[in-house]
Formats: sequence, C-alpha cells, structure tokens
Amino acid sequence: MWLWNWDRWPLLQRRGNQFFAKLLVSMLLVGFSFRCLFFFFSDSFAFLPLSQQPLRDYQSVENNGASDASVLEAALQNGVENSREGKCDLFTGEWISNPSGPAYTSESCPFIESPQNCIKNGRPDTGYLYWRWKPYGCNLPSFDAEKFLDVMRDKSWALVGDSISRNHVQSLICLLVKVEEPVEVYHDEEFKIRRWHFHSHNVTISVIWSPFLVKAENFRHELGVSSSEIEIHLDILDEKWISQYKNFDYILISGGPWFLRTAIYWENNTIIGCNSCQEKKNLAEISVQYAFRKVLRLLYHFFATSEHKPFIMYRSWPPSHFEYGEWFDGGRCSRTAPYKEGEFMGTDLEHLMRGIELEEFKNAVVNGACLKLLDIYRLSLLRPDGHSGPYRTFRPFDNKNKSASIQNDCLHWCLPGPIDFWNDLIMELVLNGKPK
Ligand SMILES: *[C@@H]1O[C@H](CO)[C@@H](O)[C@H](O)[C@H]1NC(C)=O
Ligand SMILES: *[C@@H]1O[C@H](CO)[C@@H](O)[C@H](O)[C@H]1NC(C)=O
Ligand SMILES: *[C@@H]1O[C@H](CO)[C@@H](O)[C@H](O)[C@H]1NC(C)=O
Repeated sequence: MWLWNWDRWPLLQRRGNQFFAKLLVSMLLVGFSFRCLFFFFSDSFAFLPLSQQPLRDYQSVENNGASDASVLEAALQNGVENSREGKCDLFTGEWISNPSGPAYTSESCPFIESPQNCIKNGRPDTGYLYWRWKPYGCNLPSFDAEKFLDVMRDKSWALVGDSISRNHVQSLICLLVKVEEPVEVYHDEEFKIRRWHFHSHNVTISVIWSPFLVKAENFRHELGVSSSEIEIHLDILDEKWISQYKNFDYILISGGPWFLRTAIYWENNTIIGCNSCQEKKNLAEISVQYAFRKVLRLLYHFFATSEHKPFIMYRSWPPSHFEYGEWFDGGRCSRTAPYKEGEFMGTDLEHLMRGIELEEFKNAVVNGACLKLLDIYRLSLLRPDGHSGPYRTFRPFDNKNKSASIQNDCLHWCLPGPIDFWNDLIMELVLNGKPK
C-alpha cells in the first residue's frame, strides 16, 4: 500500500561533477525551496555563509516530486565525503534503549497538568521512560532547548488542535523550562486557549483548542455527553485560530479523534446530513471520511490562498492503544514496554483517517507556503506503554482492583513520555527539513 511505502527519490548527487551539482543547487534554492529556505536562513543561521552551515545528514519524508536541495548542499559543503546512499525517513525506525532517561522529570517541570502527570498520580513502573526514537539509517539529535529558543527569538508559535495538542504543548514547554521558564500571558475562561511568553528570548507559544479546525457547536465537555449532536460547518474555518493566524510564524496543526463522533454536518449554511445518527431519520448519512477530507482541503486551500505565510506543520493522527475494550467500556493499556515493529498495526479506522491525511497532504498545493508533515502515527503506534492509562487521576495503589470501573486514558501521553520525541522531530523539520 502506498502509504507504507513512500517513494524514495533517487539521490541526485554522485561523486564528481560538482559544477553540475552546484548549478542544480542554485536552481533548486531559487525555485522549489525558496519559502522553507527563507525560514531556514532567516531563523536559524542568519548571515552564516553557506559553507559554515552544519551538515544536515538526513531528510524527512515529504512529498514533493522535487529533487532534494539540502542533500546536495550538504554534499557540496563536505566535499561529497558525507554523501549518503539514500535518504533517511525520520518517521521510520525503532525505539531503542535510552539509559539516560528523559530530559526533565515530573518534579522539574511545573507545567505538567495532572492527567499527564503519571508518576505523581502513582504510576509504579518507570521502564517506559528509558527509550528513544531512532530512525533507521540516521540519528535523531535530542531536542536542544537552548538552540530552539535562540533560533526562535522574536518568533511566535501556535499548536492548533485538540487535547493531544495540549498534551504536546506541555511537553514542548517542559523541554524548554530548563533554559527559561515562561510566563503565561493569556488564557481564555476554560484554559483551552493559552499563551506563554519566554521573556528573555521573546518567544511566544500558544495552544488553541479547535478540535475540528472548522466552526463547530455543541461540544463543550470533553468526556461529557451533549444533549444534542455536534454541529460541524465543513466549509467555515474556526475563527478561534484563523483570527490569530497572521500573528504566528510557526503553526503546528492537526485534526484527530473528535472527527469520529456523531455529528451533523453543514455546508453553505445548510444541513447536508449526519454521520451515524439514525434517529434523525430525515437526514442523509454522510461519512466521517467525507467530512474529514473536506475539512483538510479547506485547510490547505486557506494556507495556499492566505497572504500570510507562516511555517506550517501538519501533525498526523494520534494512535490510541485501548485493549480489552474501548475507552467507554473498560478498555485499558497496561503494557510497560514498546512494541517491536510489526507487532501491532493499529486499528483500521485510524489507518483510514491517517490515509486521508497523507493523501490530502500529498495533494495540497502550497503556493509559496512552507508546509511539512509531522507524521507521528507509526512511531507513536509502537508505544502502548506511554499513555496515562489509569494514572490520569491519583491512584496510588497501582491498578490492582480489577473489579473497579476505572476509566483508562490510552490516547493521551504521560509526561515525561514518548510524546517528548515529537519535539525532536519538530526541531529537525524546522531546522533541516526540506520543503514540500
Ligand atoms: C518580540 O517579538 C515580537 C514578534 O513576535 C516583536 O513584534 C517585538 O518587537 C519583539 N519585542 C522585543 C522587545 O524585541
Ligand atoms: C451556496 O448557497 C448560495 C446561495 O444560497 C448558492 O448560490 C451557491 O450555489 C451555494 N453553493 C453550494 C456549493 O452549494
Ligand atoms: C474495588 O472496586 C469496587 C468497585 O469500584 C469497590 O466496590 C470495591 O470496594 C473495591 N475493592 C477494594 C479492595 O478496594
């Protein structure tokens, strides 16, 4: 299936013929890559001559058909000694032992919210903390908080999505805290939109709760039950984030499991149908897949047509690991070590949804924007051990009472935990990734 098998483009550079390679590089720099390289030059190594830039020794998977300027460039800088046999896909690899453990602890980071603070909530095992992501064929450098804040000086970030984005922003802030502790400068009434400022670096990080990315109504409580169906406008982006869009230099955005809920869909200010709400007999049945695809197209269209061109990353579907049931009927995730590749494939529904994401990403016309895919699905799929499970609330005596009805969280991640590595990947995409 194509989604398992991203095209690996033939590597253009070969030993010799540097002139040809140089010419090609300059053409590529001017052409395909302008937007992302603009970010690269202006943000990270401004004013350094090309030859002093660090070697980028691997590539992220993205899906343009263009040749790879940065591999060529790296080879030029290093007299082709470092030319590589192939590209490294950052998102394909394995979790390997990491004796040094996480970069922060549940005590050292005051920004971990209780449902993520598994250790404080009594999780007894710690083995899940001692793994790191290792792409096949290259090394993923650890997140460098100092470098991140330096490179992002005067820049503004936003993470837009659901509670997984909130989980993620906590991880990012925890990694940064040892260099500088931010101050929360804004939150809305429900703490669903929040903004932190790192004063001495003048870096701003926002998280914006917008689980459908489009306008939606009737969905106030995350685990609560609404009296009526969620109403989703498939053709109107959510004001919550687009009203602030022009303020952001970097935006990390994603859809997710909220799309699987029963909902009434609107287009053109008219109800067009509903997914799995049989009792609404007069409504046409519309699939979740249709709705999700529609929203992603609208999203990419917005990026392509908006005058503001931030650095955009789309984060893929977050895997869940409920076993012996679903989230609502006693499903749990009690493993204490990662899966080996191939041991667990994830659910069909998740593959379907991620497939739509990959397809729509591939078809997106960027039109001068810098757009990258943060494809965390498969690497996170290997971490059934990293979820909060029963430790989303205080539960000091382990999960021994099997008859107790405990709601497990096998979707969100413990902090510290595997989600921290998403930030290592972001750092690579931002500093070294090639443009779509
Ligand atoms: C901080 O960064 C913002 C842009 O994000 C900029 O407008 C502002 O002038 C900067 N402040 C200082 C003190 O440099
Ligand atoms: C939306 O509604 C307007 C007027 O009500 C109509 O002219 C237009 O064709 C509709 N568009 C679609 C896509 O249905
Ligand atoms: C186990 O949980 C059940 C249901 O919540 C409760 O009735 C029972 O008292 C618990 N047993 C122990 C030993 O805590």
